[in-house]
Amino acid sequence: MAFSPRVFSGIQPSGDLHLGNYLGAIRRFVPLQDTHETIYCVVDMHAITVWQEPNDLRRATREVAAAFIAAGVDPKRSIVFNQSQVMQHAELAWVFNCVARIGWMNRMTQFKDKAGKNSENVSLGLLAYPSLMAADILLYKATAVPVGDDQKQHLELTRDIAAKFNNDYAASIAEQGLDPDFFPITEPLIAGPATRIMSLRDGTKKMSKSDPSDQSRISLLDDADAISKKIKKATTDPAELPVEVEDLKGRPEADNLVGIYAALSDKTKAEVLAEFGGQGWGKFKPALADLAVAQLAPMSGEMRRLIEDTTTIDGILRDGGERAAAIAEKTMNEVRRIVGFIR
Ligand code: TRP
Repeated sequence: MAFSPRVFSGIQPSGDLHLGNYLGAIRRFVPLQDTHETIYCVVDMHAITVWQEPNDLRRATREVAAAFIAAGVDPKRSIVFNQSQVMQHAELAWVFNCVARIGWMNRMTQFKDKAGKNSENVSLGLLAYPSLMAADILLYKATAVPVGDDQKQHLELTRDIAAKFNNDYAASIAEQGLDPDFFPITEPLIAGPATRIMSLRDGTKKMSKSDPSDQSRISLLDDADAISKKIKKATTDPAELPVEVEDLKGRPEADNLVGIYAALSDKTKAEVLAEFGGQGWGKFKPALADLAVAQLAPMSGEMRRLIEDTTTIDGILRDGGERAAAIAEKTMNEVRRIVGFIR
């Protein structure tokens, strides 16, 4: 059986969405609605792998949902929901905890980075995080997952879990009369000139919500004035823009700003340099600021409006949750039979 093209992606509600989240993920969710069945999830259960104040978590969950909608995700065409509304995520994650090996989890670079020297004292959930992510994706038998390149390793682990489940339970899957490729081997969709947006202060560091400098990132809630000022003040080297893309090498700030321009205008870096190569920052930065304001300011306005309208947002999440649960329950029913759980 071929799996129908279905996209799943998730964003953590851990506060302060920025341009990196938008260009690396959310913006790419929109056109996929034309070619795939699309499911976009606010992964609140992932967020609590590190401490979240409950009221902040609620607000951040609504912020991510508002960003989806403001960016052009249509909650009628796509399924938009928060993970914790669909209990099957936790249920399948448990089964996957028993399929995956501890060694697989210990090898995850994101875990090592987040745990640091403190690996005995972080939550067990942080270690098991990729099992839950695999459950998110495989509950819907998603065939494609748009993510930033930092999630590549987690996607590979999802494929490993799918393959091991299909293999470990092959006899039972056959006995139940189900497709031997019960779970699909999901493809990552990692694309675009700017999947990694860097800090506006230091082109070698990723744009991050945890950077102490607010000038280092463009928040998706920034208004036109803030967006424009941050771009005009962004750190650059003194040289003018190169004509060739290769000459961006060794110039991380220039590379980043050209990448942002390219991503916001759906162009390649080469096309951007064909227009601006040989010119100075005094020309390029105002052009980038205008482009960013035109694209982002209406979105941030809409987001701020939606975040306050909790009735609408919560209604969208509840409706999405019901539609997601209908699909998830079908998969979970099969999984329970395969594993040998009596119901
Ligand atoms: N781990 C992802 C991140 O931090 C978020 C995530 C959770 C996700 N579940 C997912 C992404 C499923 C894609 C598919 O960015």
